[in-house]
Amino acid sequence: MRILGIETSCDETGVAIVEKQRDTFSLLANKVASSLSFHAQTGGIIPEVAAREQVKGIIPTLSETLKEGINFDISSKLVPDIDAIAVTYGPGLIGSLLVGVETAKTLSVLWDKPLIPVNHMYGHLYANWIGNKDIQLPAIVLIVSGGHTDLLLMKGHNDIIPIGGTRDDAAGEAFDKIGRLLNLPYPAGPLIAKLSEKGNPNAFLLPRPMIGSDNLDFSFSGLKTSVLNLIKKNNWDFANKDFVSKNHDLLADLSASIQKAIIDVLVKKSAKAAAEHSVNSFILGGGVAANNLLRQSLQENLKQSISLVAPSPILCTDNGAMIAAAAFFKEAKPWSKIDAKPELYY
Ligand code: KG4
Ligand code: ZN
Repeated sequence: MRILGIETSCDETGVAIVEKQRDTFSLLANKVASSLSFHAQTGGIIPEVAAREQVKGIIPTLSETLKEGINFDISSKLVPDIDAIAVTYGPGLIGSLLVGVETAKTLSVLWDKPLIPVNHMYGHLYANWIGNKDIQLPAIVLIVSGGHTDLLLMKGHNDIIPIGGTRDDAAGEAFDKIGRLLNLPYPAGPLIAKLSEKGNPNAFLLPRPMIGSDNLDFSFSGLKTSVLNLIKKNNWDFANKDFVSKNHDLLADLSASIQKAIIDVLVKKSAKAAAEHSVNSFILGGGVAANNLLRQSLQENLKQSISLVAPSPILCTDNGAMIAAAAFFKEAKPWSKIDAKPELYY
């Protein structure tokens, strides 16, 4: 069975084809067009710009995916050899979501294929099933992205409940907002991770908000304020090129300290969740799941009997493959019943 997956919830236009044979999911094609370069200039995502770029990107990305995955020419007027179309219907930016949802509806009517609406967050979870057939449930799931920091208990494919989450900023958002204070372009997460490689994570003592609290919740906005205060107190001018070129070590040490503070809290609460529920696996998902320190620290802090499962880095950030993979576990709906839902939760 083959599913075409479409993801347009934010700034990435992702289209992919995933095939399932017995229990194995394989990727036939996975194309992502990104408007990141626009957002890098503005320091964050401008929804109107993201939506316009989605409109421009969707048909070329669709056309390339169908060509590469199943040698189908979108101009041929034929019907491609796929079994269903899956699309992200939320959460996300309304303008961006609508591009994917309306495109998927049109294709479903045109090609007479079932349409499967997918929650973006489940997409991040099911990215783990691609090329990975044996994930033992129950599991604790940590979804860490630009918009979410959620701990879930997954007992089965229809039994997934949130057990913790952030009270303010998401982990990726913390990386991105603190990155702005360091004058790093958006998204700052991967850059802070890179700069950290040469830095000392103990150089600056930063707070680990809620690390000892008796629940599975997170809070990252206080960390951002602490970094801002530290920068102001020392008069560090990261917007000044001269200052940055003379202070590479400072930037590396600060990055490493920030990264360690965020990861310490994520790992502590993850280990707490895994200890409170008797689980076989710990599943990671979302853009921040690409972070090597997070993966390493989880490996070190989880009981040996729990297997750590994480997607390949390319499938951590938004893509159509994860939406197609999730769709194998969800049901089709009539196109007339599917609407974009920006505020969708689990
Ligand atoms: O899942 P994603 O592509 O988009 C959302 O659904 O939000 O996640 C993007 C987020 C950004 O905040 C980015 O800074 C962060 O993931 N990110 C990372 C890394 N790679 C991406 N954060 C830390 N370390 C990384 N290596
Ligand atoms: Zn995402």
